[in-house]
Amino acid sequence: GLTKKSPTKEHAQNGPVDEVVHFSGPTQTETTVSITVVGASGDLAKKKIFPALFALFYEGFLSEHFTIFGYARSKLTDEELREMISRTLTCRIDNRENCEAKMDQFLQRCFFHSGQYGSEADFMELDKKLREKEVGRLPNRLFYLSIPPNIFIDVVRCASQSASSPSGWTRIIVEKPFGRDSESSGELTRCLKQYLTEDQIFRIDHYLGKELVENLSVLRFSNLVFEPLWSRQYIRNVQLIFSEDFGTEGRGGYFDSYGIIRDIMQNHLLQILALFAMETPVSLDAEDIRNEKVKVLRSMRPLQLDDVVVGQYKGHTKGGRTYPAYTDDPTVPKNSLTPTFAAAALFIDNARWDGVPFLMKAGKALHNKGAEIRVQFRHVPGNLYKRSFGTDLEKSTNELVIRVQPDEAIYLKINNKIPGLGMRLDRSTLNLLYSSKYTKEIPDAYERLLLDAIEGERRLFIRSDELDAAWALFTPLLKELEQKKIAPELYPYGSRGPVGAHYLAAKYNVRWG
Ligand code: NDP
Ligand code: BG6
Repeated sequence: GLTKKSPTKEHAQNGPVDEVVHFSGPTQTETTVSITVVGASGDLAKKKIFPALFALFYEGFLSEHFTIFGYARSKLTDEELREMISRTLTCRIDNRENCEAKMDQFLQRCFFHSGQYGSEADFMELDKKLREKEVGRLPNRLFYLSIPPNIFIDVVRCASQSASSPSGWTRIIVEKPFGRDSESSGELTRCLKQYLTEDQIFRIDHYLGKELVENLSVLRFSNLVFEPLWSRQYIRNVQLIFSEDFGTEGRGGYFDSYGIIRDIMQNHLLQILALFAMETPVSLDAEDIRNEKVKVLRSMRPLQLDDVVVGQYKGHTKGGRTYPAYTDDPTVPKNSLTPTFAAAALFIDNARWDGVPFLMKAGKALHNKGAEIRVQFRHVPGNLYKRSFGTDLEKSTNELVIRVQPDEAIYLKINNKIPGLGMRLDRSTLNLLYSSKYTKEIPDAYERLLLDAIEGERRLFIRSDELDAAWALFTPLLKELEQKKIAPELYPYGSRGPVGAHYLAAKYNVRWG
């Protein structure tokens, strides 16, 4: 937690804050929170949302009187919902005590309401059930929209008109995709704002809830040694890399109308870039941080087709195993041009970053899985040890790597004298590997984000002007790719991706780390 209001670190150190926990008996002013997971029968709800809510409960971050409702069209009983979600609940640490008992207590607070997404009457029924649970307390309500985007607005309309809190706050968490270009995203925002104010809308980008992404500001602004180097003067290039070693299996239908640029680059990688490159905010307040993010996004040049490489994975057989092509998915058209890989060079036209290439690379079905930020520093001017590096001077430049996942780490590559009587240098690493340094497990991004939404902390959510600025950078390129029907370069499933990515990097004298 960075801000004075931020709960997470305070919680971790001092236990949950009073407001949320101390209830000695119901009086009118005591609050309760009702969380409705809309789309409770779906993949994200099962995989991420219920487990995150349980982890918060387990750690003591949910108030004693919270209530959770699952909402979907499926006809489940409370017991069936409990049975369904209990399958994915785990105690994060293996040797935790009372895990079973805690699970039972948690499940007893989970209920199900079956309804249509566009039916005000069904939401009124939900409202009735919520009131029964909330009786005697000041009710706050959080709705988590874990549903396909085409029904967002229906649900927002019904929830805000028929099931919003009678006297406490009502907040809505929305999952991406937030539109597919500037126009559709603007339209979505306009529709949401018919029913909600901006401060009721919590747009999730779950990468902002990842520990090392949150740590970026701490690294930059609370250490003397990094921030003075954080500019074109010392940094040669910055790389933002996302890779997965599996394809789009099971999500092909969604993926085909979005593609990797919208799925990963326009949101997850761009958010990381904004935090990496923004100026120092006035304070750690959500609005101050988001103001700086908007500023840096607006200083960026929209992506140019020349600076982008797109790829798509193809099937192949290796070691007796057959790996499918993207287009083998029955929900994907055979002639699909949707990129499952993209690399791009981006530029920030401001005093700090003028001319520094920010290279992004994101792909599915690659040889490994991970997300990292690589910062390559410039050469040491007049380096006395130049000869020790042979002809490949690039190998001698410092590199800072922030490995977001897996095996969270921050490491700095430096040159060092090999101990001994001679004068030989090698590349060594100052390494902060989280698993060796910290014993406490790292919470899932969804835990932090849900907790922040409950506490009204907006720092890690996307404001609408930020979203507009992000789409403005990508929309012209996305249109051009589609209009010109640019064919993606095919790469084998499990490979390092198309060679085009290397040419793109070489154009800016960059080598991928
Ligand atoms: P699902 O496709 O599993 O949908 C969730 C629920 O919505 C379903 O269980 C179903 O419930 C209902 N639903 C599905 N399709 C329709 C439809 N066409 N019309 C009406 N209702 C429908 O979605 P996910 O759980 O995978 O994702 C939820 C949201 O989160 C989406 O916006 C997705 O883009 C986003 N997201 C998902 C991620 C993931 O890993 N899954 C990652 C990041 C974002 P019922 O039939 O019972 O009403
Ligand atoms: C989601 C994308 O936003 O992020 C998925 O839609 C992707 O395609 C996922 O797999 C990656 O998230 P994580 O947290 O597993 O890196």
